[in-house]
Amino acid sequence: MTGRIIGLGSYIPKKVVTNDDFAKFLDTSDEWITERTGIKERHIADHITEKPSTMAVEAAKKAIEDAGIDPSQIDLIVTACTTPDLVIPSMSCVVQEAIGATENCGCFDVNSACPGFVAAWNTVQSFIETGNSKYALCIGSECNSNFANFQDRGTCILFGDGAGAAVLKADGTAKPNQFIMRSSGARGGCLRCEAARQPDRWEEEGFKTATSFYMQGREVFKFAVTEVPQIIKDLSEKFSFDLENDVDLFILHQANARIIEATAKKLGIPRDRFPMNIMNYGNASSASIPMLLTQLKQEGKIKPGMKLVMASFGAGLTWDANYIVY
Ligand code: UT7
Repeated sequence: MTGRIIGLGSYIPKKVVTNDDFAKFLDTSDEWITERTGIKERHIADHITEKPSTMAVEAAKKAIEDAGIDPSQIDLIVTACTTPDLVIPSMSCVVQEAIGATENCGCFDVNSACPGFVAAWNTVQSFIETGNSKYALCIGSECNSNFANFQDRGTCILFGDGAGAAVLKADGTAKPNQFIMRSSGARGGCLRCEAARQPDRWEEEGFKTATSFYMQGREVFKFAVTEVPQIIKDLSEKFSFDLENDVDLFILHQANARIIEATAKKLGIPRDRFPMNIMNYGNASSASIPMLLTQLKQEGKIKPGMKLVMASFGAGLTWDANYIVY
């Protein structure tokens, strides 16, 4: 048994923030952001009504509706999130309650930064392949704007908020989950965000009440344009498929259009097989891949039987690639 996508859904926050909006309070411009990143606008969550947990719930509801199943059939929920509104309970438990899944449904979250959705996917597939799940929900939900430093023009312009979800059904005819996951804790210093906590009376100094993303952009860029093409090549060798002839679309983490273009070029694959929505959503971390999959399905651009490579990269450093049949 392997999990196959039978439903997709996303939640996009209502507020749109354009590059020109940033130029009103930062030394930046639409021209610089568009040229260096491909981003024109991003959606920013309302921090009262559009939290990561509530966006995860909305995306999950849409994915279940799209799958045409009853929520009581869901027996596993794994949510990827790096920017949660809750430390406990897990966001997956919040989703379980909101969609009306039963108590026979296992729930937990994973944090693998931007590649979180792919990590959640591989976790869910392991449950399905070992006979421990028949219908699983795999979610990515992020409120990056909660952790962006809006005085740092090098990072804040990149990020957007949103959520995406997939329902996977155990299928005896699907090929096994084929993937490679890699990490480099030694290189983790170039993309970090410390945890915040309350001050206490035993320690008056050194506490953090607010934190934000710290990123050495150029270092992360170099890492991505080196490791992403390499892991995709290694995936094709490991599972004996041809990148030119055996892949319909390459679904990459939407972090920077130049990273995606450089990956296409290094692999020698036409750029039009790398769909992008970064121009409208920015980098939505672990939500970027399920948001893109949902959009492609809605636009009729992915159909059952299509062969996809999913690849992601981010803090950790972590990066991974999967070869799937939609
Ligand atoms: O999800 C995964 C995590 N993140 C990423 O994948 C991000 C990877 N990195 C990147 O996408 C790019 O490195 C950035 C878009 C962040 C930056 O682009 P860059 O071409 O690498 O620019 P840079 O950092 O080398 O900076 C070049 C110049 C600098 O000015 P000086 O020192 O040359 O005078 C920056 O201060 O551009 C300046 N700059 C900006 N200028 C206008 C940096 N950000 C901005 C900005 N507007 N928003």
